[in-house]
Amino acid sequence: PIKRMWGGRFEAAGDQLVNQFNASIGFDQEMAHEDIEGSLAHVKMLKQTKILSATDADKIIAGLKKLRDRLTNEGLPFSIENEDIHMNIEALLTEEIGPVAGKLHTGRSRNDQVATDLHLYVKKRLPIIVKELKKLQQELVNKAEENVETIMPGYTHMQHAQPISYAHYLMAYFQMFQRDIERFEFNKLHTNLSPLGAAALAGTTFPIDRQLSAEYLGFKLPYHNSLDAVSDRDFALEFLSNASILMMHLSRLCEELIYWCSYEFGYIELSDSYSTGSSIMPQKKNPDMAELIRGKTGRVYGNLIGLLTTMKGLPLAYNKDMQEDKEGLFDAVKTILPSIKIMGGMIATLKVKKDNMEHATHHDFSNATELADYLATKGIPFRKAHEIVGELVLKGIKTGTNLVDIPLEEYQQISPEIDEDVYTCLQPKVAVQRRNSYGGTGFNQVRQQIADAKKLLAK
Ligand code: ARG
Repeated sequence: PIKRMWGGRFEAAGDQLVNQFNASIGFDQEMAHEDIEGSLAHVKMLKQTKILSATDADKIIAGLKKLRDRLTNEGLPFSIENEDIHMNIEALLTEEIGPVAGKLHTGRSRNDQVATDLHLYVKKRLPIIVKELKKLQQELVNKAEENVETIMPGYTHMQHAQPISYAHYLMAYFQMFQRDIERFEFNKLHTNLSPLGAAALAGTTFPIDRQLSAEYLGFKLPYHNSLDAVSDRDFALEFLSNASILMMHLSRLCEELIYWCSYEFGYIELSDSYSTGSSIMPQKKNPDMAELIRGKTGRVYGNLIGLLTTMKGLPLAYNKDMQEDKEGLFDAVKTILPSIKIMGGMIATLKVKKDNMEHATHHDFSNATELADYLATKGIPFRKAHEIVGELVLKGIKTGTNLVDIPLEEYQQISPEIDEDVYTCLQPKVAVQRRNSYGGTGFNQVRQQIADAKKLLAK
């Protein structure tokens, strides 16, 4: 037999390309800490259940702890010959403590081991992601507080629709990120299960205690079914799906930042520290961070679709296809974390050009709904009012004038009940202030949203 951990029934050594193709150590070393933690829990359980003697177990525990320290301090020398992180750690443990290391794999398989590692990997990162999202929410709240009375055009179809408060806009994203947080919180439920002890697929003849090893690892429960435990990756798919939705939100926000710092809009200016220059055009200040976050959304979606596709045809239980579950997941974590942080920094440091924002609402017809509403309060049915205002807008476009430029006499020809206060009503700021329906852009509503948000963040 050839000398590989599973080499007993093999006569020929693997081809070099095959070995490389088969190995996952190049990327699954990312879970080295999780692998050692998983093994420590397993061996402690083997000791507790007396499956291993205390002497053997203690040697293994000491060896694993030594490896953990080495990993933290100087890193471990992994090799492609040992294929993946599980066999690399076991090989290194053997170097440390000799053949007794071979007892660690009692009542366990790499199939439950790899699933355990991946659960631990996600479980560890979920709270970090939630914490970063809350920091981003805090930045949105801070910016919103300074901008309750900052007026800007609200858009539909990228056309001026109705004026809104910039704070209202910011708080819309606060809410989206709140739901992202809730999705990641929910993700904890299915990540909090221990596959350890499911062994290859069918459980084991050793009298193991899966509740105990689950408890050592901080998992809420062991998976109920050993076949399920080693076969599914839905917790990882939930994560990737949550990450994709989050990136979609970030990307939309980026899109607006990019537009709004352009010359044509001029609503905001990004801080120098979140912008870059051009190697040829000296005047340039480009919103590269926002563009990169928008661009990286593609790879996170790709990771989700990739794993969904990998999993879709797999018969139970483990198949080697599932080795493909890791890189995309790690990549998603490494993409979303800096994206969230950088978005927070961009929001915190951007300059709001309040005058430009408000200016854009003065020379348009985004107060047309106000006028229609006003006419409706004077007894004209809303449909009719809509038509009248539509005709006024058409006339205004042709003559280059706005609704505020129409003389009172002309308004009074529409209805004698119209008086001077129509002009107040047409002011964008007044229009915003008066939209005081629950969740609307009225200043009081926005202040309420901010107060509620602060309460939520203080929890
Ligand atoms: N490196 C493998 C993976 O990442 C570990 C599990 C291997 N199990 C097996 N029976 N080949 O999926």
